[in-house]
Amino acid sequence: MAALEQVQFAASILSADFTRLGEQVEEALKAGITRIHVDVMDGLFVPNLSLGPGAVKALQVLRKKYAAQIYAHLMIADPERYIADFVRAGVDGIIVHIEACSHPFQTIRSIRSLGARAGLALNPATPLIMLEEIMAEVDLVLIMSVEPGFGGQEFIPGSLDKIARLRGLLLQHDLSQVKIAVDGGIHLSNAAAVAKAGAQVLVAGSEIFNSQAPVSENIQAMFARLRCDLGK
Ligand code: DX5
Ligand code: ZN
Repeated sequence: MAALEQVQFAASILSADFTRLGEQVEEALKAGITRIHVDVMDGLFVPNLSLGPGAVKALQVLRKKYAAQIYAHLMIADPERYIADFVRAGVDGIIVHIEACSHPFQTIRSIRSLGARAGLALNPATPLIMLEEIMAEVDLVLIMSVEPGFGGQEFIPGSLDKIARLRGLLLQHDLSQVKIAVDGGIHLSNAAAVAKAGAQVLVAGSEIFNSQAPVSENIQAMFARLRCDLGK
């Protein structure tokens, strides 16, 4: 599993410099990023506040110019309340947390009925069994490899095994079209291991947006390292 062309990086803008968000996102897209990950937090489901549909709307110019995708990761209680707002703002996909949905089937179906891809996220302590009845209905499963709420945390090592088990579960149920995304603590050092375990979408925030190097250099370094490590 995991040839370079099967792996996509999604840039989480949570760690971007908000005073020049457009500039940094454009730099990321020019450097080869094809998906922007917008983290949405409500101070209730997670102990932090972040972005909303306004950010998605502001990014539409760049989304169109670079034919990029925007996925909103809703770390909010009762996410169904905001699905229509995010679709109107211009997302390609919406990821909701299974722990935050009272009626996950309904929520997933309403995302899809509005024309967006539907993703279901699992917190680190949430077992895969929670997915079993609903996984045939989703486009993507997002494995959280840190507790949601903040960028810059350390990858929880057990996540690798969880990704591999999820890959097996999807194959066992003939659901290989369901994409596996992994979010939190992804860096140069572990991206290939995450891809090898079975992830196709690697969400990276602080590895891309940081004060150590320009965004384009960070992205080039990630692609180069992944190519090298997967080539082994
Ligand atoms: C955490 C967010 C992540 C996070 C990723 O709640 O969902 O998307 O910003 O940031 P890094 O890559 O710094 O862990
Ligand atoms: Zn996220």
